[in-house]
Amino acid sequence: MPSYEAIARQRLPKAHYDYFAGGAGDESAVHENEAAFARLRLAPRVLGGVAPDLAVTLPGGRASLPVLVAPTAFHRLAHPDGELATARAAAAEDTVMIVSMASTIPIEAIAETGATLWFQLYVQPDMAFTERVVGRAEKAGCRALVVTADSPVFGIRPRDLHNGFRDLPEGLACENLREGDVVRPIEFSPEISWAHLDRLREVTDMPLVVKGVTHPDDARTAVGHGAAMVMVSNHGGRQLDRVAAAIDLLPEIADAVGAAVPVTVDGGVRRGTDVVTALALGARAVLVGRPIIWGLAAEGERGVREVLRRFRAETEVAMALVGAPLDRSVVRRC
Ligand code: FNR
Repeated sequence: MPSYEAIARQRLPKAHYDYFAGGAGDESAVHENEAAFARLRLAPRVLGGVAPDLAVTLPGGRASLPVLVAPTAFHRLAHPDGELATARAAAAEDTVMIVSMASTIPIEAIAETGATLWFQLYVQPDMAFTERVVGRAEKAGCRALVVTADSPVFGIRPRDLHNGFRDLPEGLACENLREGDVVRPIEFSPEISWAHLDRLREVTDMPLVVKGVTHPDDARTAVGHGAAMVMVSNHGGRQLDRVAAAIDLLPEIADAVGAAVPVTVDGGVRRGTDVVTALALGARAVLVGRPIIWGLAAEGERGVREVLRRFRAETEVAMALVGAPLDRSVVRRC
């Protein structure tokens, strides 16, 4: 049976497939994210007598499995139902969907699916506009605000440059940036700083999450500025090439944060064994990006559900087989 990625590659226009699959520079960070998991090995524990429990409680709500839907842009490029299909699948599998600010369905309509949603934000230089967008997300019922911190500028992605992929096709737009007839483009600004996080804390009751942390000092700073959760991520290798693999960055960030707030990791999580490895190295949950897109492109809501189901089944079995306690002592580097 062909993989969902193979089906997506066949089905999508090349420029759109490349947008989803590709990354910055030589794409070494894209590859490293997966390769780093492949360098890790497990040393399971036996006879622990503990049944695996996949459910996880996080500041933005509970999920029945420690695999959350990462914020990814432009779902209608993958499937006509776009983010509605993804949200329905997340709701059916009882996990959290983090909706990208760059979603192609407005947050209010996605919320009508009943899914547990968190909203991902790129802080815009126009802070009044940013606050209006945050207000919309909160009013729609989003339970956490995920501030993406790894994007002071837009990464250079050779595939997109080669394909001339810049804008959404006619009829698709970033609906969360629409005000009346005007849809603003997303702006990236190197001037965004911790002060903006402080401001956001004042204007929303949603717990603040900082996504894209790669250095332990920044993890500590995020907690100091009131972050309720820290997301270790190199943006799936799409921003800065040559960033270390997310899973390799996790342990020192988990150490820096300690028990203060939960830490998640994303980038290259493809199997239940990856999920369990991440949990052993200090993550409370993981996010998955591209696998969700491939399921969506191949089979819409059903495909996303199938991806989440597979993660659930694999994680449950891997967790049982790795045993308890699930801590760093069960991970080996080879
Ligand atoms: C992303 N990612 C992302 N992150 C974010 O904070 N806001 C966004 O709008 C997007 N958009 C986006 C689009 C596409 C096509 C991809 C592949 C990724 C990054 C995403 O949240 C996550 O960090 C990575 O996708 C995780 O890596 P994997 O699972 O794709 O390897």
